Amino acid sequence: MKIDLSFSQSHVDELQLRERNVVVIDVLRSSTTVIAALQNGAREVIPVASVESAVKVSGSLFGDVTLRGGERNGKMIQGFNLGNSPLEYTELMVRGKSIIFCTTNGSVAMAKCRYARSMAVGAFVNMSSVVEYIRGLNSDVLLLCAGRPPGVGGFSLEDSVCAGMIIHALQKDQDGGPVELTDASLAALSLYKSFGRSVKKMLKNTDHGKYLMEIGFSKDIDLCSEIDFIPIVPVLSGTVIKVRKDAVDAESAV
Ligand code: MLT
Repeated sequence: MKIDLSFSQSHVDELQLRERNVVVIDVLRSSTTVIAALQNGAREVIPVASVESAVKVSGSLFGDVTLRGGERNGKMIQGFNLGNSPLEYTELMVRGKSIIFCTTNGSVAMAKCRYARSMAVGAFVNMSSVVEYIRGLNSDVLLLCAGRPPGVGGFSLEDSVCAGMIIHALQKDQDGGPVELTDASLAALSLYKSFGRSVKKMLKNTDHGKYLMEIGFSKDIDLCSEIDFIPIVPVLSGTVIKVRKDAVDAESAV
């Protein structure tokens, strides 16, 4: 199994993702928010790349079962029902709803995967579940870090460290076959070894983490740093993201 990695969604276009197995990582905060929304009973999350698409897609769907969620500069978009704080996506707010989701990098990365063979959403909160999911694929995978916009360099430490933690776990247990790493995945592994000791501390020291704290979202950092807090794997099916069915079946069989 070869694990490749891209440090920023802005470095790839959707045709490069065609027929690949992709795991999208946007720790702060889109991945964590999608995971929280589905855990709290949202019917589905529909990622879109622009506010215009969000308005268009939600306009064609029926009234109050559809919500618009997302951000610009970390804050809720005018005319939307929800921002991009995972803490807003409570059961009361999202149960049974379809959420049209539009964020600066995360939803763009997710929407770019429409021609991918598979797409799953990864973060610290579903770490072991996503590692298990990748093992089960038993096939080459691209870890696609959402990163930051190209104007600020595209790179985000938190997504790369999260990807490095996934790689570290996959490397530890190679029972399913050897794990081959590219230069980029080796670099992420090294970042995890340098910065992954305290995830919360690392998140608080990142550019985006500092910005989120400045605009009042310190509690989001706490949640986004909770390893294995939400043990589900969201996956793309057509154009919508839902909880991976195997996991749902396994849970309902208990
Ligand atoms: C993004 O998609 O760039 C982020 O999730 C931004 C945010 O923290 O809201």
